[in-house]
Amino acid sequence: MSKQKIVSGMRPTGKLHLGHYLGVIENWVNLQYDYDCYFFVADWHALTTKYDKTEDLSQNVLEVAMDWLACGIDPDISTIYVQSQIPETAELNIYLSMITPQTWVERDPTLKDMAKILKTKEGANTQISYGLMGYPVLMSADIMTFNASVVPVGNDQLAHLEITRDIARRFNNIYKTENGTAFFNEPAPKLTQIPLLCGLDGSKMGKSFNNDIKISDDEQTTTKKIMQAVTDPNRIKRDDLGDTDKCEVAYKYWQIFGDIDTVATVKCECEKGERGCADCKKQLACVINAKFAPIREKRRYYEEHIDEVKLILEKGTQKARVEAQKVLSEVRKLVKMY
Ligand code: TRP
Repeated sequence: MSKQKIVSGMRPTGKLHLGHYLGVIENWVNLQYDYDCYFFVADWHALTTKYDKTEDLSQNVLEVAMDWLACGIDPDISTIYVQSQIPETAELNIYLSMITPQTWVERDPTLKDMAKILKTKEGANTQISYGLMGYPVLMSADIMTFNASVVPVGNDQLAHLEITRDIARRFNNIYKTENGTAFFNEPAPKLTQIPLLCGLDGSKMGKSFNNDIKISDDEQTTTKKIMQAVTDPNRIKRDDLGDTDKCEVAYKYWQIFGDIDTVATVKCECEKGERGCADCKKQLACVINAKFAPIREKRRYYEEHIDEVKLILEKGTQKARVEAQKVLSEVRKLVKMY
């Protein structure tokens, strides 16, 4: 039996951080052996909010691709490509947008949040574009271009994906195949179980909050950043008794990056006042640096061989388009286009 298809994408926001790695990429790396995976950089989706800030857009596409490759997305197994290189997706987006009731997108809570954030950032008078309203429809087109059945996403994307299933069902009802079977799969989300990695200040990790550690950061930068991480605010002297529940960041990182025994030792020593916060974070930095050393080395290789990265994307695009064209030729027939 052929493998189930997975499609997932990320917007090119620049160099990715450890939260992306743990929350998304590591999961993709594991899935690629069991599924037929299509991973793409969603540069059209980037335009939904940043249409006027495109100076770094194409460089950011490459940054994201390099991070993926460094982390272990294998271009010989998975298909890696850039969204805007697949015109079939734009065409499918047109058909899907015709059958999507306006109220469906207007109700999308994730879209409402995006609009709110945009207005906070850019001012209350900011116009929400027609393209931004179409965000979940374009996302549906991404997925349905390959008639995928599984989509690994975070919680925040579930609302969009629900619209995708509604759109797929509606398409299947409107445009019947000859034998009456449904043409499109109703794609199911695949959530990751990994706990969210907070930023160095204890709030959500994000590029714009200046509290992230990049996958591509070198050892010194990582150590310097971790040394600034928040710990139990009541501990001032080294022998003050600690409370790991109040340690906002460092102990949480230990729980994610440390093995069971180390985490137990850290807790025990902290509570007895036998472990200073500075030493503790220095040790933590070592553990994180060791984990990411091979990934960072691989990333440096790709930085120095950018043509190789571009070739991988080109090959991925070619492969993806062959599949996309199969689906679109069926769709055109079903819609009864000229
Ligand atoms: N909206 C997704 C995000 O912001 C990115 C994305 C675009 C996507 N198209 C997709 C994810 C299709 C999965 C499938 O993370």
